Formats: sequence, C-alpha cells, structure tokens
Amino acid sequence: MAKNRLFINAVQEAKRLMSQAVAIGDVCLDATCGNGHDTLFLANLVGAQGKVFAFDVQQMALDSTQKRLQLANVAERVSLINDGHQQMAEYVHEKIAGAMFNLGYLPGGNKGLVTKPNTTVAALDILTELMLPYGLITLVLYTGHPGGEEEAKKVTAWADALPQDGWDVISFSFPNRENNSPILLAIQKRGEQC
Ligand SMILES: C[S@@+](CC[C@H](N)C(=O)[O-])C[C@H]1O[C@@H](n2cnc3c(N)ncnc32)[C@H](O)[C@@H]1O
Repeated sequence: MAKNRLFINAVQEAKRLMSQAVAIGDVCLDATCGNGHDTLFLANLVGAQGKVFAFDVQQMALDSTQKRLQLANVAERVSLINDGHQQMAEYVHEKIAGAMFNLGYLPGGNKGLVTKPNTTVAALDILTELMLPYGLITLVLYTGHPGGEEEAKKVTAWADALPQDGWDVISFSFPNRENNSPILLAIQKRGEQC
C-alpha cells in the first residue's frame, strides 16, 4: 500500500468525508459555489443520474462555476441559483445526501462580500430538515477575515446544540499551522438503525 500525507487541509478533509457519504444518483447541494471547485466535485460524485443545487449571491461566481462545469461536461446535472443559501427552501424540494459550505469570501473577488453568521445558520436550520439519513454537511470555517471568527463561533455553537441522538458532529482543526488555518466542521445525520 502506498502511504500518503493524510491531513492536507480542511477542504481536502471535507471532500474525503463527502466521497464516503454520497453515491451515484444522489442529490447534493453546494451552499457557496464561488469558483465552482466544490460544485464540480459534487457533480462528479453524483454522476449523470444525480443532481447538484449550487447557490451563490454573486453572478461572477455563478459564471465562473458554469464555465468550470461546461469544461468538464457536467453542467446539465447542476442547477445554479443566484440567491442566498438561506432561501434554499424555495428551490430545493428533494432530500439531500451531501451539502458543502465553504464560507468566507470569493477568492479573486470582493473580499468585503462574505458569508454572514445569521444567514449561514438560517440555511443550516432549513437544511437539517432536508437531509437524508446518513446525509453529511461539511462546513469550512475561516477566521482570518473580519467577521470570520464570529461566524465560526456562531456556526460551531449551532452544531454543538444539535441533539446527539440525531446527529454526529466532528471538527478538524490544524493547531500547529500559522495564519488561521481553516477549520472543518462535519455533521452527519444518524440513520434509522443508529
Ligand atoms: C469561499 S467562497 C466559496 C468557494 C467555492 N466553494 C469554490 O469551490 O470555489 C464563498 C462564497 O460564498 C458566497 N456567499 C456569500 N454569502 C452567501 C449566501 N448568503 N448564499 C450563498 N452564497 C454566499 C460568496 O459570494 C462566495 O462566492
């Protein structure tokens, strides 16, 4: 067996876990599509029979995501939505196997336009009702920008309060890294047998 580095960063950890929770034909959600890296990852996981809903409040982000999906020939399995993830109940009526939140600002975009604690938690409240048994929510939390620390605290407190007989919650941080290394929060809904 080839041995590899296990802990690259929070985004890679989120993807590693997500690939164990999502199968071909599932419906997934990218709550913050940004430049589309996570949307493309989810589109590949669900395959041609599956579907991904991808939200962003910036047209620039949706355009960048659309380009990435077209290049990979997977655009038809993704619904791009120019609205805040806190409005997801208006658009998503299917049950969700996997949902990714990569919080903060759009890399290469307006650093002042960031996800906000209240809307992130509002989206999470709606999402908990939409998740399938064994469905997984991942959140990558950034604390290095203004408002990031407050958002990370609010989201973590929200997750801490989830009932333990319904949800398993873990967090991964990288304590020996400099420059506020992002933190992963991962939340899995219990199955019926658990
Ligand atoms: C860190 S970026 C996402 C990176 C992205 N997942 C990728 O793979 O490139 C965060 C994104 O969240 C978006 N955003 C901010 N508030 C939002 C909201 N309420 N609903 C949806 N997206 C939001 C920003 O416009 C930005 O593009």
